[in-house]
Amino acid sequence: MIGFFDSGVGGLAIFNQAQQLLPRENFIYLADQLNCPYGEKTAQQIQQFSLRAVDFLVQKGCRLIVVACNTATTQALELLRRQFPKTFFVGIVPVVKPASRQSKTGHLVILSTQVTQKSQALKELITRHAGNKTVYNLSGSGLVELIEQGLIQGPKITKKLITCLQPALQDQQVDIVAAGCTHYIFLASEIVKLFTNKVKFIEPSQAVVQQLKKLLKENKLGSNKIMTAKTFFFTTGNVAKFSQVASQLLKTKIMAQKA
Ligand code: DGL
Repeated sequence: MIGFFDSGVGGLAIFNQAQQLLPRENFIYLADQLNCPYGEKTAQQIQQFSLRAVDFLVQKGCRLIVVACNTATTQALELLRRQFPKTFFVGIVPVVKPASRQSKTGHLVILSTQVTQKSQALKELITRHAGNKTVYNLSGSGLVELIEQGLIQGPKITKKLITCLQPALQDQQVDIVAAGCTHYIFLASEIVKLFTNKVKFIEPSQAVVQQLKKLLKENKLGSNKIMTAKTFFFTTGNVAKFSQVASQLLKTKIMAQKA
């Protein structure tokens, strides 16, 4: 059983890829919507939420857990590894390295939550992989709340995005925008549209799933089921609302349960 958790629907983008590429595995997705947004909480709060989320997934039988949230990864992954030594974890960090490599102009944007934007982890990644580049390290305050309502386009999203991306929108040399928050993966086409020049949106789903596959193989954690695999969705928030928004985002019927 592979567990996923995020503060809400953001991690579904990664989960979706994983489910398609690993059709024989059983999955549990936990959305900690009661505590969403993580990106505007203290490190201590994010650590507490993450410990509780992982505990829930471990109780359900998960031995491999994807922390499908950049904010929880930067603030809590080390702690989770210490507290759950028998569990395998895959974290998600903002994709600074591929963003830097793929930029031809050397002008790139990393869009994260406030907590991730200010984190030491992100600053170190930028210094290491894009130290000689022009990096707009921006935060998308207020976007997560809209995405949780199922809003991924339209005037409200555009207005917020223009505010968040303002410094970068004036730079015609920007050619890469990287997702530093899993929620923003759902905004890819809206983000790209706002730039007058051609920009590419980069996100971590593919790389995370490859990492997951490798871990499954190396540690013999795969289920090798021949029967149809099962997926369960849980939320700490409103079950009906999560089911509706998740179904809309993944374009398939999702029925969640209360965590
Ligand atoms: N989706 C999460 C991330 O990748 C957190 C969003 C939030 O709750 O602020 O950072």
